[in-house]
Amino acid sequence: MSLTEAVAVADGYNRRRELQAFDDTKAGVKGLLDAGATSIPAIFHHPPDSLPQPRDHHAATPVTTDGGAAVPVIDLLAAPREEVVRLVRSAAETAGFFQVVNHGVPGEAMAAMIAASRRFNEQPAEAKRPYYTRDTAARKVRFYSNLDLFQSLAACWRDTVFCDMAPEPPLPEELPEPLRGVMFEYADAVRKLAVWVFELLSESLGLGGDHLSKMGCGESLKVAINYYPPCPEPHLTLGNTRHTDPTFLTVLLQDGVGGLQVLLDHAGAGSGWVDVPPVPGALIINIGDLLQLVSNGRFRSVEHRVLANKNTTARISVASFVDVGVGRDTRRYGPIQELVHGGNPPLYRSVTVEEFVGHFYRKGSERRARLDYFKLEQ
Ligand code: OGA
Ligand code: NI
Repeated sequence: MSLTEAVAVADGYNRRRELQAFDDTKAGVKGLLDAGATSIPAIFHHPPDSLPQPRDHHAATPVTTDGGAAVPVIDLLAAPREEVVRLVRSAAETAGFFQVVNHGVPGEAMAAMIAASRRFNEQPAEAKRPYYTRDTAARKVRFYSNLDLFQSLAACWRDTVFCDMAPEPPLPEELPEPLRGVMFEYADAVRKLAVWVFELLSESLGLGGDHLSKMGCGESLKVAINYYPPCPEPHLTLGNTRHTDPTFLTVLLQDGVGGLQVLLDHAGAGSGWVDVPPVPGALIINIGDLLQLVSNGRFRSVEHRVLANKNTTARISVASFVDVGVGRDTRRYGPIQELVHGGNPPLYRSVTVEEFVGHFYRKGSERRARLDYFKLEQ
């Protein structure tokens, strides 16, 4: 063994031990701050080329409601409806991200969801510890820091509560007390919004309004509450590394802190890493990998990331992953027949969700270009 190899092995060993020690606290990143951390442990240091580069920096795209912005804000109740369908199509085919207002999720439920998320995370560590696990089969409500802690190259400055809400919701008593009063109402409202958005997306593909819902795209809902504590060295780490969502659709609620960025590659309105700025009252919708697959590449599941929180207060986001149920679901999902014809051959082979999700976990830290695995030779 060369000296470099010996150092690497020793480093690897220490890293493994540090990860285990961090995980054993069951107190997450918030626990490090509570213990007085003024710098970030080495396990959170990302390789320099994964960190935001000075040349990445693009001014926040101006927010407009006319669909002209890179990540547009769309009023779902604007008339005429064909115009809403056109804006949704255009956003789904380019940025893969859009924000919606007049979306039917009550503002009070959104505010209560953020407040409850803060209350859960800011309780003493002892109250959160019983929920701490990364075993997805252990229970319907799980608290953890970095699901891929032991697989990824570097940990992110974020703690998460993950709740399986549909098709089989938890019992009220399975939810931590701070979340009990709001979670069911919020999840129901998000599911209704998802049905509405699937309708607009179906119509924008020239299909009947109920096409995507009938395929079962909205049967399952998983809610991830992300808590991004203030970071003492935000230039060394990330809140979430670049990735696409392995879902059909994601509905994201964020508070006013900001930090979400989407990687745009189209000419015009913006390219490179572009901020998705907080818009009061709005929800963010993004296309997931499975919707890119069934739309035969018309809709785009676009990479996004979250910067480490430079603010002095924690950032909270609530990501609702709209999906088909895994386990019970043996259906195969492939490009929708009506979208595949002579000039438009299928780009992907069909997959079961189990196969898709299995691939997702096998890939571990390689969270990019996942869909390419299912691409057909052209
Ligand atoms: C996610 C995600 C973005 C955010 O949870 O998949 O991309 O702003 N979250 O928290
Ligand atoms: Ni995401």
